[in-house]
Order: sequence, then C-alpha cells, then structure tokens
Amino acid sequence: MNKLVVKETKEAGYIHPELHSQFIEFLGTCIYDGLWVGEDSEIPNYHGMRKSAVDALKELEPPVIRWPGGCYADTYHWRDGIGPRDKRPVTYNENFATFTVDHNEFGTHEFMELCGMVGAKPWININLLSGTVGEMKEWMEYCNRREETSLSRERAANGSPEPFAIEYWGIGNECWNGGGRLTAESYAQEYRKFVTAMPLFDTRLPEGERPYTMKRIASGPDGNKPRERVRWTEEFFRNMAQYRQPPVDAYDLHFYNWCVKTPEERAELFNREDWYRVIDSCLVLEDVIQEQYKLIQEGLKKYPASEGFMKHPAPTCDLVVGEWGNWYRSSFEVRPALYQQCTMRDAITSALTLDIFHRNCNMVKMACVAQTINVLNSLILTDGEKFLRTPNFDVFMMYKVHRGAKAVELNLCQDYGRLHTFASRKNDRIYVNIVNADMDKESELSICFEENTKPVQVTVLAADAPDACNTFDMPDRVRAKAGRLPEKKEDTYRIKLPAASVSVCEFQIIMEVDLNRR
Ligand code: AHR
Repeated sequence: MNKLVVKETKEAGYIHPELHSQFIEFLGTCIYDGLWVGEDSEIPNYHGMRKSAVDALKELEPPVIRWPGGCYADTYHWRDGIGPRDKRPVTYNENFATFTVDHNEFGTHEFMELCGMVGAKPWININLLSGTVGEMKEWMEYCNRREETSLSRERAANGSPEPFAIEYWGIGNECWNGGGRLTAESYAQEYRKFVTAMPLFDTRLPEGERPYTMKRIASGPDGNKPRERVRWTEEFFRNMAQYRQPPVDAYDLHFYNWCVKTPEERAELFNREDWYRVIDSCLVLEDVIQEQYKLIQEGLKKYPASEGFMKHPAPTCDLVVGEWGNWYRSSFEVRPALYQQCTMRDAITSALTLDIFHRNCNMVKMACVAQTINVLNSLILTDGEKFLRTPNFDVFMMYKVHRGAKAVELNLCQDYGRLHTFASRKNDRIYVNIVNADMDKESELSICFEENTKPVQVTVLAADAPDACNTFDMPDRVRAKAGRLPEKKEDTYRIKLPAASVSVCEFQIIMEVDLNRR
C-alpha cells in the first residue's frame, strides 16, 4: 500500500513566491502576436497587450517576469524600445530562427506596464555581448533615477515620471554560449566591470515608497552539461575570490529538460517509453540544484578576509533558475519558432519541477519558466485572435497555495515509485501535492498527519488521455477540476489518484480546545 506521512510540525524551509516566476522574450510569437497585438488591433487589448493574456496573468499573479531575454537580451538596445512608437527603429530579429522584422513596439515602458497590471516584479537582463557598460548604466539611470537628470526627464517625457525601482538586473545571459562563448574566467572579468559601473540609488525614499535594493544576477552555468557546469561555477567563484570582490547577489542556473531523441520528437507525439524518459529526465534538476548550491557555498568560503579597516559581512549569493522547461527537438524547425504544444506529460513535468524548487527552497530562491506564451513550455498559446490556457497554466494556478508557505517534512512509502509528493503549511492549512506519473494506472494513497485535520478541498488535473492537450477547437479539454474529498478511516485518509494526474489537497488543522483551561 502507498502511504504518506506528513510531518506538518517539522518545517523544512520558506517557499519564496519568486519560485513561480515567468520569462518572456522576443522569440517566435511570445511577445509579438502572442502578448503584444498593438493598440489598433481588433483583438481586445490593454494599450496594445492582448487582453485575454493579461487577464490570465492577472489571475496567475506571477511574482517576477524576466525580460527581454534570454539570448535576445544580448542583441537588444534599450533605446530602440522607448519614445513614440512610430519613431522607433525597425530592426531584424533572427534569434532562434525567429526571422521577423521588429518594430520595437514593446519596450521598457510597455514591459513595466505589463508588470504593473499583473502585479509582477521586473527582472531585466542587460546586453553584455553587443551592448556596452555605458549603455547598461544609462538604462539603469533611465529606469530608476528619482533625481532630475536628463535621463529621468526623458523617462518622464515618455510617460513615467516616477522611477520604476527595478530590483533584479541580470548581468549577461548564458555567457558560455549565445552570450559570448566566454570562458568562466573571461565572463568573470566582464562581470567585474559591468557590476562596478552600476549606479547607486538613494535608499532614503520619500515616505510611503517601497524600499528596494538593486540585485546583481550573474550568468550561471548550462545545467545540462555535467562537467562544464561544475567547472564554470568553480572558476567563476575562484576568480571572484581574487583581489576585491564585486557583489554577486544571485547566480542564474539554466536547465532545460531536453527531449531530443529524434528530430521528429514533439510534445504531443510519444509512446510509453518516451513518456517515462521525459518524466524521469526532468527530475535530474534536483541533483543539479544541490550540486550548484554546494559549489557556490564552497566558492564563497574561499573569499579572503578583508585587509581594509572596513569589516564586510560574510558574502552570500542566492541560487536562481532563470530558465527551465521541456524543450522538444522539433521546436527548432517549427514556425513560429520554438512553438510547442503542452500535454498532460508537460503538465506533469512542470508540477514535478515546481516541487523540486519547493523541496529545495533553502537552496533555490527564484525560478522562471521558459516561456510564458507560445515558446517552449508555455502557459498560454495564441494564434491570431485565438487564445488558450495550456495545462501548465492550471499547474501554476493549483500550486499558488504554496507561495510564502513553509515546506514540511514527508515520508512516502510506495509499492511502485510513480507517485511524487510534496507538502507545505501556511497558518492552519496543509497543502499536499500528489503527482501520479503512471501513464495509465490509477493509484491509491493513504495520508496521515501528526495533528488532527479535516479535508477542505481537492483539485485535480487529469485528462482522458496522457497526450491530451488544449487546442483552439477544444481549449478546455484539460482543465483542473474539484475532486472528491478523501475518506477518513481511523487516522488515515484514502485518496484515489487518476493515471497521469496532478492533485493538490488542502487540509485544515483542527485546533484542540482544552476545556479544563476555561
Ligand atoms: O528560452 C529560449 C532560449 O534558451 C533563451 O533565449 C536562451 O537563454 C536559452 O538558450
């Protein structure tokens, strides 16, 4: 019998809401046609942004959105995307074979408006490859300077008198490949220069304003290259340990679940063996996170004590996963570029990946799925005026309950290892995730708790077939639904889990009232 013991009194770390963040880039139709349709479009829009997509994101409340790339960031000149839209330069986008003329209609102000509408914090990645240190500095000045300067006046003239107060700044992207094919050593030299040039902003803000600090995010390794990723992190931190240390507030690991066995490999086309291969390979990320976290701590320990009279606090650096998701080989050939369907298999790997972040929340602080709309592991698909929410969208919605909760210890015993579980606690609620990764067998699980509980709600994402997905003809074929509350026998709940499903069960802790103390 499969049995889960939830030790809700044993907390195992705080789940940073930022683990549920998003990533949008000028690739394929992620931004243009997907999110941005233009103010004159017949497609309903908020100032040019597709209404249905923005409304979906409003429900999702993404904690952070990363932009403008990705690889695209390394060809992006921020000045191209400000000022009157009809005066913006027309450039050409060949990133990942996007091959489109780019009118630069979606720029910094549009991105900030999106973040404001959906309640997300922005993460901007600067251009370290074809941009300059000066260009980065001016972008930061333009965005965040409160005092009257030519750049802050220009921002005001473009419609935003108040500074944007952007905290997260990525200093380069995948510098081991598209970001320059640098060595860790040469990237470290660039990082030192760019970070040292970053402006400082006065943290004594007018009353009522949200204080913020600029977070410098270094380009971490390619999580998919086992030897290279170790070397990259060791060498980067070895360099940082020499001479004077620039701050590294966060370190951005990228990990894709590569589904590339054959050129035809597609999200919606698979057999039994492919099902398990893709599901099992997403789990590798857990080891990568633990390995990289350890390497970062070891690297920081090698920083020498300061010789100056100022005592510096011990250095820290957060591990973040700036890009993750399933990537099928056929996506390199499709048009629009990198467009993928999303079936129950992808929903399961997304759930398992989010649970890896939850379980390792003491090691990983932020993660962005690649990407929100029409590119790779999407939550939203569009085609002209057509729009749908993929099953991934439902997973993110179901998992919202874990944001800001405490992970708790679990003990799972199972006859056959296809159930994956995670649980968190927030106030008097316990939320238990159960993923049944078996392609065609329903399963049953007994759950018991340390405290007295009652079930409140069960939400289940399951489909009529493992390769089921939402299409523009059947946009709600795979949708999360309320499930049956589990039955209690003695101290144990019994719950049935459909084949290929994700369930979130909410329990309430019943506080015992000690009548003798009244
Ligand atoms: O997400 C698509 C691309 O994958 C990004 O632009 C790049 O950073 C990564 O290689």
